Amino acid sequence: MTRVAILISGGGSNMLRLVEDMTGDHPARPVLVASNDPQAAGLARAAALGVPVAAVDHHDFSRDRAGFEAALLQPLLDARPDIICLAGFMRILTPDFVQRFAGRMLNIHPSLLPKYAGLDTHARALAAGDAQAGCTVHEVTPELDSGPLLGQARVPVLLGDTPESLAARVLVQEHRLYPAVLRRFAVGDRTPVLL
Ligand code: GAR
Repeated sequence: MTRVAILISGGGSNMLRLVEDMTGDHPARPVLVASNDPQAAGLARAAALGVPVAAVDHHDFSRDRAGFEAALLQPLLDARPDIICLAGFMRILTPDFVQRFAGRMLNIHPSLLPKYAGLDTHARALAAGDAQAGCTVHEVTPELDSGPLLGQARVPVLLGDTPESLAARVLVQEHRLYPAVLRRFAVGDRTPVLL
C-alpha cells in the first residue's frame, strides 16, 4: 500500500478530499497530516477521521528555516511516506528538503501554471483580464511552483468576479483535480489529468 503524508497550513479542504478518497480500492492510504500551524483547522479534521497528525510551529524557528525543516522532518520520517502532498501548505521549502523527496512530492496551486506562481493568484488573473482561471497539480522541485505538470483544471472567469468568488469556483475544481491526480500518481502514472 502506498503511504501518503499531507502537509497543510489552514482549513485543509483539499487534504480532506484526498483523505476521503483514500479508501476501498484506492492504491494509497494517508499516514500523516502535518502542519506548520498548531491551530490549523485541518489538523482536527484529519484527527477526527483517524489520521495521525503532527504540528511544528514555524514561529518557534524564526529566521531558522533549517531548524524548522529538521523538526518537520522528524514526524515525516517516522511516518515513512512514499508520497508527500502539499495541500495549502504555505511555507517555502528549501532545496535540501525538496531534494530529499525528489519525484515524490506534489503540490496544488490555485492558478494555471506557469501563470501566477506565488501568492494572490486570483487577483492577478482578474487584473490581467484573463478569460480563464484554474488550478494546477505539479511535482515539487526546488524552484517555486514550477515542477512538471501532473494535472490542471480550468474555470471561466465571469463578469463581476472578485478574487473571492473566483477562488471559490477554482476550489471546487481543486477538490476534483487533486484526488484524480493522486490516484494516478500512486500507481506511477504521471500522465497529466486535464479537467
Ligand atoms: C488552496 O486553494 C490551495 O490551492 C492554495 O491554498 C488553498 C488551501 O485551501 N495553495 C496555495 O496557494 C499554495 N501556494 P485548503 O486548506 O482548504 O485546502
